[in-house]
Amino acid sequence: MRILYACSEAVPFAKTGGLGDVMGALPAALEAAGHEVSLVLPLYRSAWGSGVALAPTGLRVAVPVGGRSMEAEVWRAAIPGTRSGTCWLVRNDALYDREGLYGEEGGDYADNCLRFVFLSRAVLEVARALGLAPQVVHAHDWQTALVPVYLKTIYRDDPGLGGAGTVLTIHNLAFQGVFWHLDWGLLGLDWSHYNWQELEFYQRICLLKGGIVHADRITTVSPSYAREILTPRFGFSLDGVLRDRAHLLSGILNGIDDATWDPSRDPHLAARFDRDRLDGKARCREALRRELDLPSRPDIPLLSLVGRLTDQKGIDLLLEGFDGLVQTGAQVVVLGTGYPEFERALAERAERHPRQVRVLLGFDEPRAHRIEAGSDIFLMPSRFEPCGLNQLYSMRYGTVPVVHATGGLRDTVVPATPDTLRAGTATGFAFEEPRAEAFLEALGQALAAWSDRRLWRRLVRAGMDRDSSWRQSAAAYQALYGQVSRPNGHPPGAPGP
Ligand code: ADP
Ligand code: GLC
Repeated sequence: MRILYACSEAVPFAKTGGLGDVMGALPAALEAAGHEVSLVLPLYRSAWGSGVALAPTGLRVAVPVGGRSMEAEVWRAAIPGTRSGTCWLVRNDALYDREGLYGEEGGDYADNCLRFVFLSRAVLEVARALGLAPQVVHAHDWQTALVPVYLKTIYRDDPGLGGAGTVLTIHNLAFQGVFWHLDWGLLGLDWSHYNWQELEFYQRICLLKGGIVHADRITTVSPSYAREILTPRFGFSLDGVLRDRAHLLSGILNGIDDATWDPSRDPHLAARFDRDRLDGKARCREALRRELDLPSRPDIPLLSLVGRLTDQKGIDLLLEGFDGLVQTGAQVVVLGTGYPEFERALAERAERHPRQVRVLLGFDEPRAHRIEAGSDIFLMPSRFEPCGLNQLYSMRYGTVPVVHATGGLRDTVVPATPDTLRAGTATGFAFEEPRAEAFLEALGQALAAWSDRRLWRRLVRAGMDRDSSWRQSAAAYQALYGQVSRPNGHPPGAPGP
C-alpha cells in the first residue's frame, strides 16, 4: 500500500511529546512490513538542527486558505530508519519559523487555526503536486484532523486523491483544535458543514470533531483509552460524537523506537547494560547521583518522574503526596516543564529537601535517558494517559513503574499481585483510584519489594523482557489500512510519483 502520514511533529525534526516519538517510528515500521510510506510535516525551525539533511525540491505549491492563496515551499528529507521513505517538509517561514511548535511560554500562538488549516490543506496540495496518489492517508490529532474532512469534501473527486482511505488517530482527546466561529472562512469549507453533527461544537469550530465525523476509521493509542473516551469522565465533551462512531473506533498500542531507547547501546549513558548485565545499571545510578549532586546511598532507592508537568500527568497527586513520599526516605528526581504553578510548587519542595529531592525544569532528552537508566522506580500517577511512552522506556531500562491504572498504563504495566508475582509476570505497581493515598500505598508496595533483592530482580527483568517494539502494532495498523485502502494502481489522470 502507498501510505501518506500527515502530522504536526515527528522525531528527529520536531517534538513536544509522545506524538513526535510515535511519528518518528510508525512510518518506518510500516515500511518494514512492505509498504511505501511518506510523511508531510511543517518545516519548523527545529528541523534545521535535526542532524538529517534537508534538501529543497524547487517545488512551490499554492495552498488555498481563507479565500487567498498561500505558498508552501516543498523540502525533502529521508525518514530515518527507512530505505526509501520520504518526509516532505512544508516550508512557510511566516507560519513555522518560530521558537515553539504550538506556542511559547505556556501560551498558544494566536494564529494556530490558520497554521494548521494551512498544514492540512498543504498536505493534500503537496500530495497532488508530487503525484503521490496515496491509497491510505493517516492523520494525527487536531492539527491534521481536517485532512479526512477535505478528502471527503473538496478533494472527493480528485483523480489522485479522491477515494483514498482515511484514518484519524487521537493521541490525546484533551487537545481538540477549538476556535471561534469567525475563523470559519479560513477552512474553505461551505457553511453547511458548520453544524452540530460535523464541525460545530458549542458555537465554536472543533477541528478534531470534523476529523472524527469524516474519517473512515478512528484509532487511539491503547485499547483501554479507546473505551474510556466513550464516557463523560474521559470524553472531554466529545464522548457523544465518539459513541456515534464507536463501531469505527479501535485502540492500537504504541511501540517504542528500540534503537533510540536501548540500554545496551545508548550513547547518553555512563555505562551500558541489559537484562543479564545489570551491573551497568548500578553504575548509571551512581553517575546520576553524582550528576544531580545527591548523596551516594546504595541503601536507598532513587525515584523519578519525567514528563509534562500538567494535570494530565497527575502532578497534583504527586504534590499532595509529597510529604509522604519524602518520609519514605527515598531520593526523588523530577524532570519536566509545564504549568507554572506546578513548576513553582515542585521547585519549592526541592529547596526544602536539598539532600533528597531534585527538580529540573527544562526539556532535556539526554538527561531523560540518564534518568530512565539511573533510577529504580518511575512514577506515573497520570489522571488519564492515552498510551504513555515513559513507562515503556522505564521497563526497557530496568526501572519499575508505579502507575495509575488508566488508559495505556493499564494496558502495558502488569501490576504486582500475589498471582502475578508468583507467576513472574509482574512488571510494576498500580493503583485504581486517582487519590494521593492510593498512590502512596502503591509506592509503599514498590518500596517493600525493592528491599527484597531477588524479587526486585525478577520485576526488573520481566519489564526488560516486555516486547515494546512496533512489530505487533504495525501489523494492527496494516490490517486497519487494508479495510479502507483504495485499490492499488494510480487512478486514470493522476501523475505517477
Ligand atoms: P505525552 O506525549 O503525553 O507528553 P508520552 O509519555 O507519550 O507523554 O511521551 C512523552 C515524551 O516526551 C517522552 O519521549 C519523554 O521522554 C519526553 N519528555 C517529556 N518531558 C520531557 C523533558 N522535560 N525532557 C526530556 N524529555 C521529555
Ligand atoms: C499523547 C498522549 C500520550 C501518548 C502520546 C503518543 O501525547 O498524552 O499518552 O503516548 O500522545 O501517542
